[in-house]
Amino acid sequence: MRILQLQTGRDDVSSWERVRERAVRAIGSEICQSIKATAHPGEGFSLGAEFRTMMVSVIGESAVKAFVVGATGETGSRIVAQLVKRGVPVKALVRDVATARAKLPTEVELMTGDVTDKASLRAAIADCTVLLSATGARPSFDPTGPYQVDYEGTKNLVDVAKETGIEHFVMVSSLCVSRFFHPLNLFWLILYWKKQAEDYLQASGLTYTIVRPGGLKNEDDDPRVLIMAPADTLFEGSIPRMKVAEVCVEALYQPAARNKVVEIIAQDNVTERSFGDLFSSIIE
Ligand SMILES: NC(=O)c1ccc[n+]([C@@H]2O[C@H](COP(=O)([O-])OP(=O)(O)OC[C@H]3O[C@@H](n4cnc5c(N)ncnc54)[C@H](OP(=O)(O)O)[C@@H]3O)[C@@H](O)[C@H]2O)c1
Repeated sequence: MRILQLQTGRDDVSSWERVRERAVRAIGSEICQSIKATAHPGEGFSLGAEFRTMMVSVIGESAVKAFVVGATGETGSRIVAQLVKRGVPVKALVRDVATARAKLPTEVELMTGDVTDKASLRAAIADCTVLLSATGARPSFDPTGPYQVDYEGTKNLVDVAKETGIEHFVMVSSLCVSRFFHPLNLFWLILYWKKQAEDYLQASGLTYTIVRPGGLKNEDDDPRVLIMAPADTLFEGSIPRMKVAEVCVEALYQPAARNKVVEIIAQDNVTERSFGDLFSSIIE
């Protein structure tokens, strides 16, 4: 995600609209939502043939920094790997730095914290622009685990993300969160609490993408094709965690992923579609 400032020599609405359209075509529609035009009449520069007649110049680019929560987990570590592959600086909130250091790439900045401790989040998030959460209560006999981690923890993240101006919040949730009488709720109502957290995020006013995967698999080279569907339409199926990570990271770059809940699984014998197509096909 890049934020570009554009300049034009003329300061009228139609000129700005044309500049914007040209820039979107030239730079790529995938980031068009991020383009902000600011008026500096008479200060236009030229930048290549495409822009010369419009007197447009790319004069600034803001940096993206990702805050990843649940980074030591099976999905979270793959999200980190995807971000690092794209050259995005990553800060990871971890409960145990030594374990995290052994698991995560060396360029990842580590911050000690816990989603149940709001104060530990405030300091950690500070200089980040986007947040990706793949936390989940570890299996335990503590009946408050999912309530504390999947609900209260996510709620804390949402509150602090709002305070610190996070631009996009990506949350890994689960298929079937709307089904109260689902066997997975026998694990201390985990689906129920995830759904409450989803609702809180959706009501927060933050830009969000909620990703609901089917059963998670560790086979990264699974050749099956990604299927994406609207909320509460898929009730079974599985997906490799690597694909979940790709969807989460891609959501940051796709305008059509904003403020959507997407359900994802992998299937054989279906035609592969671009991420742009998949996110655009989700109408809420
Ligand atoms: N398993 C499935 O088939 C399935 C299906 C659909 C959706 N999901 C959901 O997908 C998400 C990712 O699943 P996964 O299996 O990849 O996760 P995972 O490997 O169990 O990792 C969970 C992560 O959450 C972190 N965490 C737990 N409690 C925390 C706390 N209090 N503060 C900060 N971090 C905390 C863990 O940190 P530590 O390393 O410090 O414990 C770990 O990094 C979860 O929300 C899960 O419920 C799972």
